[in-house]
Amino acid sequence: MYPLLRWFLFKFDPEKVHYFTFRLLGFWLKVPFVKPIWKSIYCVKNPLLETTVAGIKFPNPVGLAAGFDKNALRINELAACGFGFVEIGTVTPVGQDGNPKPRLFRLLEDQAIINRMGFNNDGADVIVERLKKLNPACIIGGNIGKNKVTPNEEATSDYLKCYHALEAYVDYFVVNVSSPNTPNLRELQDKEPLTALLRTLMDERAKKGSSKPIFLKIAPDLTDSQLDDIVDIVNETKIAGVIATNTTIERGNLVTSSAEVEAIGAGGVSGKPLAKRATEVIAYLYRKSNGSFPIIGVGGIYSGEDAVEKLLAGASLVQVYSGFIYQGPALVKRINKAVLKKRKEIAHG
Ligand code: FNR
Repeated sequence: MYPLLRWFLFKFDPEKVHYFTFRLLGFWLKVPFVKPIWKSIYCVKNPLLETTVAGIKFPNPVGLAAGFDKNALRINELAACGFGFVEIGTVTPVGQDGNPKPRLFRLLEDQAIINRMGFNNDGADVIVERLKKLNPACIIGGNIGKNKVTPNEEATSDYLKCYHALEAYVDYFVVNVSSPNTPNLRELQDKEPLTALLRTLMDERAKKGSSKPIFLKIAPDLTDSQLDDIVDIVNETKIAGVIATNTTIERGNLVTSSAEVEAIGAGGVSGKPLAKRATEVIAYLYRKSNGSFPIIGVGGIYSGEDAVEKLLAGASLVQVYSGFIYQGPALVKRINKAVLKKRKEIAHG
């Protein structure tokens, strides 16, 4: 059924479709008796799927990646689609509109997406008010970033503001320094500023007596030596682990015509073309760190097999975004089923 719905939805502007399906999901799951039926179709409950990472018990290893529910509007509806965890954000201290539209594009031939949203979100305070009213049905991650107008030299204060605002309402944090859509943000991935930023956040965490783990989300475009730095930084700062990866600025392996790609302009590519590189990054980090910290694998997961590949490469959990758009909600169940089938190999991987 989803291919038919997708055929229809893909006739319209991607960003409008996003908000439309978001609202539809909200209304649909409020119809009497629909939610339990929906859950019985899409959720896989099995103790063998439970995965403890960084002290958190995830009901299953499949999460929704950041950027889909930036404003924490549909967390429980998304949990009803089978996700074990939903990552909200990227949240910035002050709400901002993001980049001018259009800023979200489908590359159908590549089964990919290009976005340059630019951290459009309601801001930490509004999002916190929403979270206060929620009785969450899954684990919640808080992905945090800086406002566009904040210069990199003052970025730490933006991350701290978001950290303090969200601390009581999310289960784990993600420091996002890897979006290609906020000018110069990715410079914060350099060893010196990144170590300082993570150290400050870890100090605050200690002062607060908080046990909420902090992860770092990295770009797939880092070189091996930059990935070596990431391993050192995680070990030095003792953050919980890494989310690999964000979208890529690479356009080299797309089959969509270069004229079409150029006409779209700047942005990060996600989906199928990212899968191989994201898995390479996971495998590299896992090998270089001797598996000493958990990795959350994300990038181009479109099937149960794709997810198993990431887990075998060294990921402890996986997240999806583009695959959810292209494959629909049944993808989450397919991944959980595939994990159950392969769990012995994964556990011994
Ligand atoms: C994203 N992604 C993202 N990541 C992040 O850390 N903060 C964000 O705000 C966003 N926003 C965002 C918007 C859109 C429209 C897309 C498509 C993606 C990146 C996302 O979380 C994920 O890392 C990549 O999309 C790769 O996974 P997929 O899409 O290949 O499964």
